[in-house]
Amino acid sequence: MTVYESVLDAIGGTPLLRLRKLGAGVRPRIYAKLEFQNIGGSVKDRAALSMIRGAEEAGLLKPGGTVVEGTSGNTGIGLSLVAAQLGYRSVIFAPAATSAEKIRLLKAFGAEVHLVADFVPRSDPGHLANRAAAFAASTPGAWLALQYDNPANPEAHFQSTGPEIWKDTAGSVTHFVASVGTGGTISGTGRFLKQASDGAVQVIGADPEHSRYGGGNGSLKYTEGAGHPLHPDSVEDLWPEAFDPALVDKFFSISDRDAIFTARRAAREEGLLIGATGGTALAAALQLAEILDENHTIVVVLPDSGRNYLSTYFDDDWLTFLGFLEPTTPAGTVRSLLTGAPAGVPLLASGLTAAEAAVELYARGLAPGEPAFLVLDRGESFGTVHPREVVAVVTLESLAAVDDAAPAVAAGLAYSVLGAGLPVPVEAGASSTKGQGDAAAAESAGTEVVAVLVDGRIAATLP
Ligand SMILES: Cc1ncc(COP(=O)(O)O)c(C=O)c1O
Repeated sequence: MTVYESVLDAIGGTPLLRLRKLGAGVRPRIYAKLEFQNIGGSVKDRAALSMIRGAEEAGLLKPGGTVVEGTSGNTGIGLSLVAAQLGYRSVIFAPAATSAEKIRLLKAFGAEVHLVADFVPRSDPGHLANRAAAFAASTPGAWLALQYDNPANPEAHFQSTGPEIWKDTAGSVTHFVASVGTGGTISGTGRFLKQASDGAVQVIGADPEHSRYGGGNGSLKYTEGAGHPLHPDSVEDLWPEAFDPALVDKFFSISDRDAIFTARRAAREEGLLIGATGGTALAAALQLAEILDENHTIVVVLPDSGRNYLSTYFDDDWLTFLGFLEPTTPAGTVRSLLTGAPAGVPLLASGLTAAEAAVELYARGLAPGEPAFLVLDRGESFGTVHPREVVAVVTLESLAAVDDAAPAVAAGLAYSVLGAGLPVPVEAGASSTKGQGDAAAAESAGTEVVAVLVDGRIAATLP
């Protein structure tokens, strides 16, 4: 057994585990790199230690200094634990939607946490990154980590993750699979493995289906920590400098459903409690394994633990609400109110005027009273939408009630979402229902528009 003199020495050095059950039906060997065994619970401990050491060496962080970052999760946890060990204060700005578990973890490791409103445009001083930068600029001795563009982030993986994999597989690794958030893991590890193998190792990106990295349309997703959506806060589509796309040989595009259910399988079949980015990477590794043979060895990164997501990916009620799980009692649920398979809902770009929106809806033959959703503009391709992408819901009648030249959003009606698996909300004039949809259900008889989620995306409106 290794004996450590400091918790910082215990960062990295994670084991590889052969996946014998999940990999039973395929020919290559699949090894998982268990990054959730890091001291702060994720792969980001490596980047956090490397960035803080880099700042010390550059003279940017001095004794008594303050480590600052805008982050929802694992990087903040890594930074706060390393900062505490080295005697620095840590101040983390996190989106208001950050899970309760992660906020508590940040505080447990000694961070001061400031919650910031979600989805504020990048140009707004209230945006997460601007709040963190302003705090750092006005606090003497503060240093802003900037993980997305900090070269010490990928360098951590070039120095540690890559060499560990090369040594532990005795140079037999042929394919490296990782999800991409900042890109630090895939870029640093990928660069090392390509150098060590004279370019032979194939680097595979596992990407949420809608993420821009793998060519998706930029819609939001449920895999926390991986992928690159288009949103007001990233509408310029700036990719992190920590990510070197030239190193990626191929991307596999993985749906939220596949990511979540592969993570759940890993817990039950392999005893590995992992998050959905690990599920994303594992799902990609299993698809890849189908086209390889016994001469190949795949190493797949499992970035963090499922303990961070017990109230989400591992909670059946959460999954049922979002329409990822079939309701246990099909009769009497919202799903049973939908006529046949959900056919999707009419979507319009959010920037239209009321007149333009009305013309579009007439052209599409929208029935009076049938709602259309104004959603964040992602160019030509809308596909389906995540509920947080909806800017307003309109009908022909509500558009007619405002000025033609007004923004169509001005005609917005009240809107809420219901899970397909919830009990039937409205019984002939009654509003007595159970579950998270109560408020929406009670109002749905009025002007409120109720959207129904299937696989976490808006699939239908309630008739
Ligand atoms: C859970 C999780 N998975 C994957 C990643 C992606 O790692 P990287 O930022 O090195 O690309 C992150 C990064 O924040 C993460 O928190």
